[in-house]
Amino acid sequence: MELNPFSYDFHENPYPIYRWLRDNAPLYRNDHLEFWALSRFADVMAAFVDWATYSSAEGVLLERLDPKHIEMTPMILFLDPPQHDRLRKLVSRVFTPRRVAELEPFVREIAARLLEPLVAAGGGDFVKDFSTPLPMEVIFALLGVPDEDRHQIREWTDVALARDPDSPDLPPRAIEAMMKAMRYWYQLLPMLRRRPNDGLICALCDAEIETDDGRTTRLTDGEIVGLCSLLGAAGSETTTRLLANAVVLFAEYPGEYAKVLADPAGIPAAIEEVLRHSAPTQYAARTITRDVEWYGQRLPKGDRILLIIASANRDERQYSDPDRFHVGRTIENTITFGQGVHFCLGASLARLESRVALEEFARCFPRYAVDQARAVRVHHSNVHGFSSLPFARG
Ligand code: HEM
Repeated sequence: MELNPFSYDFHENPYPIYRWLRDNAPLYRNDHLEFWALSRFADVMAAFVDWATYSSAEGVLLERLDPKHIEMTPMILFLDPPQHDRLRKLVSRVFTPRRVAELEPFVREIAARLLEPLVAAGGGDFVKDFSTPLPMEVIFALLGVPDEDRHQIREWTDVALARDPDSPDLPPRAIEAMMKAMRYWYQLLPMLRRRPNDGLICALCDAEIETDDGRTTRLTDGEIVGLCSLLGAAGSETTTRLLANAVVLFAEYPGEYAKVLADPAGIPAAIEEVLRHSAPTQYAARTITRDVEWYGQRLPKGDRILLIIASANRDERQYSDPDRFHVGRTIENTITFGQGVHFCLGASLARLESRVALEEFARCFPRYAVDQARAVRVHHSNVHGFSSLPFARG
């Protein structure tokens, strides 16, 4: 049995392989692709919280990033403390549950507006027409990105994420798209400094940070660009996948959808169950900073290891009947948004957007069917979801 996160077949249904790993190789080694993997809930959790041993500094994907690239645009996701904490402290002020809650009317207005033509047409493409533009509009408005540029950034993000079948290498077109997006952000900063708006980018340009010796500094352009590109991508991509996974699961389990329709107050719990059952982010990669031992095996410093969130979420040692989608499930300890210092900064926003989106969708489409045969999957080592999902009123 091989775990190959680049295989198109694997993307269709990774769960049987994850089960095999948990039962037969809770510490797994892939010699060919040169990584280790942990798949049980308790192990994944333990590694997540030990950032000193499991470092993010060489990237959190299996595809290694060019160190020059990371240096040019230092992203919080690829920084270990203490550098990480300096940036995190600044941005986390914007994403507190209270600040995020204030966005609800704005999110609802976008959701209702996007659903209108779908209601009139009796369906459409759930991903292209609804779950992609919704979080994109929200995050770009928060950042203060000019309207006319938003679509282009999203297109670059899509190209940057697409991988060739079974290949561990970043395709040249993906690198090119990342560079174009990066150049865009670098050019946007002087423009926004000349004509400021009330978005997060301008706030970051003005922010003064106190250093340990009492001086104040500002963020470098590289740090601001790193944050913009991370927030632009993470802030839309994951929620897009979560929403489509929800709609597919509700169609597969009509009894569970009926519960949500009968009591929309259950939507937040249903979303947690969608995230557990079909995690949009499948794993986080780390680099080991000192020799460690797992299951009697020594793992040397410098090796790469995957912490498989999606497998931990289906671990029968943690959840009863884990393959079953059950909207009333109580989930006490979630790992879907990661854990420890890198715990997802946008978790509150993702939860708000998805609750509002599903409330509005359920109101408009109490009965619908998805066209699985025409659905198109995203092919990326770490993303589980659809890039196209036709649906119609049932
Ligand atoms: C369903 C939606 C989402 C999922 C499943 C998700 C998942 C994750 C995971 C697993 C991590 C940890 C990665 C690691 O430890 O290597 C993470 C970090 C992060 N997420 Fe999310 N995310 C979601 C939505 C969002 C949104 C809406 C935003 C933007 C507002 C966002 C911004 C971030 C940022 C900035 C980090 C890095 C935090 C740090 O390094 O301190 N995410 N996310």
